[in-house]
Amino acid sequence: MVPPAALPLVAVLNGPNLNMLGLRQPQIYGSATLDDVEALCAETAERLGLAIDFRQTNGEGELVSWVQECRDRAAGIVINPAAYTHTSVALMDALLAAELPVIEVHLSNIHKREAFRHVSYVSKMATGVICGFGIRGYALALTAMADLIEEEDG
Ligand code: DQA
Repeated sequence: MVPPAALPLVAVLNGPNLNMLGLRQPQIYGSATLDDVEALCAETAERLGLAIDFRQTNGEGELVSWVQECRDRAAGIVINPAAYTHTSVALMDALLAAELPVIEVHLSNIHKREAFRHVSYVSKMATGVICGFGIRGYALALTAMADLIEEEDG
C-alpha cells in the first residue's frame, strides 16, 4: 500500500511578549490568549491540509535558530516577530537564508501606531504582510500560505 503523502509543514513562529496575549494591552491586542491563537491555527491548518509547528519565544537568538531549522523541514513560515520586527537584522538575514515563502503577521495595524513600528526589517524580505485583523490574521496568513505552497508544488 502507498502511504499517504505527508502534509506540507508550516512553521508558525511568535516573538517576544506574545506569551502575554490576553493580559497584555487588551485594548490593542485583544483578549484572546496565545493558546487561542494556536487553536485557531490548528483548526485552520487542518481545514487547509497543512501541518503546523506553532512556537513562541522571548529570545532573538532562539527565533533565529528556529528559522534556520525551517530551511530543511518546512514548506513555509508564518511569523509574528513582535518587537524584533522593528529591530532585528539577524532575523531578516535568517529568513532570507531559509529560502521559503514567509508571511509576516501582526495583530495590530502597526502603521496606525508609533513611528518606530512603521519600520519592519522582516517586510523587506517577506512574501506578504497581514496586520490589523487581530488573531484572524493568522488564519488569513495560513490560507495565503496554502495557496503559495500549492502554486510552488503545482
Ligand atoms: C505586534 C506589533 C509589534 O509592534 C509589537 O512589538 C508586538 C506585537 C502585533 O502583533 O501587533 O509585540 O507584532
